[in-house]
Amino acid sequence: MKQLLEEARARDAVDPLRQFRDAFWIPARPGGGAQAYFCGHSLGLQPRRAEAAVLAELRAWREQAVAGHFRSPSPDHPAWIDFGDGLARDLAGLVGAHADEVTVMNTLTVNLHLLMVSFYRPAGARRKILIERGAFPSDRYAVASQIRWHGLDPRDCLVEFEAEADSRLIDESRLESWLRLYGDEVALVLWPGVQYASGQAFDLPRIAAAGRAAGAAVGFDLAHSAGNLPLRLHDSGCDFAAWCTYKYLNGGPGAVGACFVHRRHAPNAELPAGLPVALPAALPRFEGWWGNERGSRFRMEAAFRPAAGAEAWQLSNPPILALAPLRASLDLFREAGMERLRAKSRALTGWLADTLQRELGEWLEILSPADPERRGCQLSLRVRAGHEAGRALHAWLEQRGVVTDWREPDIIRVAPVPLYNTYADCAEFLLQVSAWAEGR
Ligand SMILES: Cc1ncc(COP(=O)(O)O)c(C=O)c1O
Repeated sequence: MKQLLEEARARDAVDPLRQFRDAFWIPARPGGGAQAYFCGHSLGLQPRRAEAAVLAELRAWREQAVAGHFRSPSPDHPAWIDFGDGLARDLAGLVGAHADEVTVMNTLTVNLHLLMVSFYRPAGARRKILIERGAFPSDRYAVASQIRWHGLDPRDCLVEFEAEADSRLIDESRLESWLRLYGDEVALVLWPGVQYASGQAFDLPRIAAAGRAAGAAVGFDLAHSAGNLPLRLHDSGCDFAAWCTYKYLNGGPGAVGACFVHRRHAPNAELPAGLPVALPAALPRFEGWWGNERGSRFRMEAAFRPAAGAEAWQLSNPPILALAPLRASLDLFREAGMERLRAKSRALTGWLADTLQRELGEWLEILSPADPERRGCQLSLRVRAGHEAGRALHAWLEQRGVVTDWREPDIIRVAPVPLYNTYADCAEFLLQVSAWAEGR
């Protein structure tokens, strides 16, 4: 343990992405110095550019008022009508989608509901929704209430797929076998990209293929994947996906969410221009004026003419002040590049996992998969001494400026984020756990 900090500093010194840490505000710890912040899986840190980005929009509002919708105040600053375009383009790059497959709107749970309006269409014997046991509660509430909204009973129609005995992990092959056997009763598979409690990353193309082969629609909750892992969402073949932008994407507390709808569902993609009314869309959808295709959005016509892409699911004009910090953060992602971030992430989390196992394995069990391909940056840890000891360790760390989170009944989640975390942060975590263990 003694040389840990030196080894960590040596690794930080050769990290090609080390300058990105300075692009963030790192909260101070009580006695001075920066926190070792490991909660990017919950709320990403504030990019230093965020404040200026918000102020620029406040200024545009002050100086241009309603004209700001259509007039760009400077060449590098979009008019508000176009504000979502750059965000959708950058997010599409991060999740491996075409720009027209992504839109920025609402928040995650709201978007899951709006997408299930279109993609959960129970009919005949095909009525079930498949999720994982222990899904994030909001997802569970959303699917259960969708089932009830269709006049059905979650006790019959909600299937919660169990993790392997003695672990929190789910092997995709078990899911495939189950779908082969029972898939003809499944209307929708709603699956996480990375499971929030275990940190397991799933093989999304495999799950999409299995769900669709069974005849179900497939949607992904990417709350813990977007900005954490490189994704190829379009190629995965899923029908839809939704994610928040306040975790790894650093968009700020309660920031606006994003969603993906595969191109094959692009409503009215071949709608001839100039038709007086929209053709019936292939999918039912809740509609609002911002889902109108752009040319007709301001014509205030009675007929809804859906945009040809994910944009058709938008309801309202976007909250520009809330989106400005996301703009600042996505610029950093573009500069760093998702592939380089992933390379650092694998190394950083890998070093933390290996050292932890070697030095502190008698105290902490790593619940997340050992294979780096099956996890993102997060490690979920269980304190072997039990629940009370786990709570005590979490509090010990917090008091010393090492910020992790606690998930009942027994998990400490630690996420070294490659944009701003360092090996020295990880060493600090390990040394503090070691100090705590010595005191017991
Ligand atoms: C996996 C998952 N789903 C859903 C949510 C809920 O997100 P929101 O409050 O943006 O609806 C969260 C929030 O942390 C989450 O982690």
